[in-house]
Amino acid sequence: MSAESLYPVQPEVAAHTLTDEATYKALYQQSVVNPDGFWREQAERIDWIKPFTRVKQTSFDDHHVDIKWFADGTLNVSANCLDRHLEERGDQAAIIWEGDDPSEHKVITYRDLHEQVSKFANALRGQDVHRGDVVTIYMPMIPEAAVAMLACARVGAIHSVVFGGFSPEALAGRIIDCNSKLVITADEALRGGKRIPLKANVDQALTHPETRSIQNVIVVKRTGGEINWYPHRDLAYDDLMRVAGSVCAPKEMGAEEPLFILYTSGSTGKPKGVLHTTAGYLVFVALTHEKVFDYRPGEVFWCTADVGWVTGHSYILYGPLANGATTLMYEGVPNYPDVTRVAKIIDKHKVNILYTAPTAIRAMMAQGKAAVEGADGSSLRLLGSVGEPINPQAWHWYYETVGQSRCPIVDTWWQTETGGILISPLPGATALKPGSATRPFFGVVPGIVDNQGNLLEGVAEGNLVILDSWPGQMRSIYRDHDRFVDTYFKAYRGMYFTGDGARRDEDGYYWITGRVDDVLNISGHRMGTAEIESAMVAHPKVAEAAAVGVPHDLKGQGIYVYVSLNTGEHSSEELSQELKQWVRHEIGPIAVPEVIQFAASLPKTRSGKIMRRILRKIATGDYESLGDISTLADPSVVQDLIETHRDLH
Ligand code: WT7
Repeated sequence: MSAESLYPVQPEVAAHTLTDEATYKALYQQSVVNPDGFWREQAERIDWIKPFTRVKQTSFDDHHVDIKWFADGTLNVSANCLDRHLEERGDQAAIIWEGDDPSEHKVITYRDLHEQVSKFANALRGQDVHRGDVVTIYMPMIPEAAVAMLACARVGAIHSVVFGGFSPEALAGRIIDCNSKLVITADEALRGGKRIPLKANVDQALTHPETRSIQNVIVVKRTGGEINWYPHRDLAYDDLMRVAGSVCAPKEMGAEEPLFILYTSGSTGKPKGVLHTTAGYLVFVALTHEKVFDYRPGEVFWCTADVGWVTGHSYILYGPLANGATTLMYEGVPNYPDVTRVAKIIDKHKVNILYTAPTAIRAMMAQGKAAVEGADGSSLRLLGSVGEPINPQAWHWYYETVGQSRCPIVDTWWQTETGGILISPLPGATALKPGSATRPFFGVVPGIVDNQGNLLEGVAEGNLVILDSWPGQMRSIYRDHDRFVDTYFKAYRGMYFTGDGARRDEDGYYWITGRVDDVLNISGHRMGTAEIESAMVAHPKVAEAAAVGVPHDLKGQGIYVYVSLNTGEHSSEELSQELKQWVRHEIGPIAVPEVIQFAASLPKTRSGKIMRRILRKIATGDYESLGDISTLADPSVVQDLIETHRDLH
């Protein structure tokens, strides 16, 4: 590692923050040598109804994976995010909401938010929603989404937020899997000036016969657009709020009772309902939010994610609000009405900390300095990145152009499954290297194993595993503990397997090299190749499909699908377009392939396994290094694929 690419801790940052490198090392050591002692102390940052006596009770043994933290304590998450702040900061902004249209914004104080959540929690109880019931939330990025999530937490219901970009089909699948009782949605979403018909999507999802568990649909009026109304089922949010009482006692919840389910893609099968529980999750997101972003009281924190993803759960909502922070929630997209929008929002609301994704950074960078044209940007103190490896070029642009070479960048590695950040610089303690997520957070023990599961020491490259539990870890896949064990604990015994590859350098810094399984990362969003393939083969003309990822300048990865058609069907540009539309309809816009390549047949081993390695190479035009193709049932398939690829490009 050359000296130029090391960014030492800046004295003014270190001066404000709690820790320097030596303190980090000492605390880290303590946290992993004595996790019980460390987490017992950290857990004091939240309010307990009944204090816990046990701290860590966890096993990664694949015969009985069992993860419990603070198990005999009780608490309520919404009380931690709202009630306890009222005395000290009732009039402080909890949420600054910025609309899609630059002329619209709202400031919601902790007092306001507490009142709205209490009322809506009462409304939920009025609809017979109680502890353990599952509520599906399919909402735009509006304050009511936060109200809905916190109200669920208040009554002990489990929320399952489904990203508003998912199709009715995908929504139906996520309702059916968890037997959800209620859907909360809005008439329409507004994103980049476009309207997205959320209510109509819900109506369509609920035509699916297996969604009968749904008793009601609560509809927030966002645009006032025309929608169908089913009086036996649909309820207007405003009507419920008008009559709801504003006093609502938070439900006393066990530390290990579920807080939420969030569906995410894996390398096989349908999306998994990742289950997070109450206390460990809250302690972990609150602590990481404060330490990683060096959050200081009174500051404005802006995470640009959607609440439909885990980043929105942990760092728009729960982490910041548990810390009494001001969190900015933006309804729209970064480049609407134009590329200066992010910089304008920063100046308008005096944002101190910006947390965004490499894909958004690259989209701004593509316009050179235009993204910050006329902007002041002096409120910014710290920058964060998440979702995929950040390429050094984007890192430097972010650092110099957005951060004015003044703001440290925290490159945070984590996953839906991990609940919160696991590997990241700490601003006052870690010298930065562009492209490296650097070092583990307190209490986190990463390891690198070879394909046989041998732990590698020192400088190494291989598969990233985590060797012991941390409080924010997912506890199970909803109603499928076996799949949880199979997915994460069978590859390398006694270890949690992340699905990522990583390298550790001579300073002990981690460099994430990307997924080593069949999961793609499109603009920081996870998509399983199996899901895309199963959507494809559901089309009546398609016989077989194989999806692979290809490098993409803005999105990081793009989707490239090989399709073979049923006998008698013919490939054409029209069919290619039709298939793209089909995937949009089955999953949503994020799953639409960049390229569809028709193929007479796919390269398979004699046992019938598709050789993706070959498909990946051909997709990028790398015909020379296909490796050994002699194990193919029919090696001549390859020549065909290469010729079609040439014609396409
Ligand atoms: C996958 C998890 C957790 C936040 C959003 C994504 C990739 C995430 C980084 C980073 C390199 C990263 C990994 C991971 N990833 N952050 N800083 N550097 N890669 O959550 O949808 O569960 O995806 O995103 O591949 O496994 P997710």
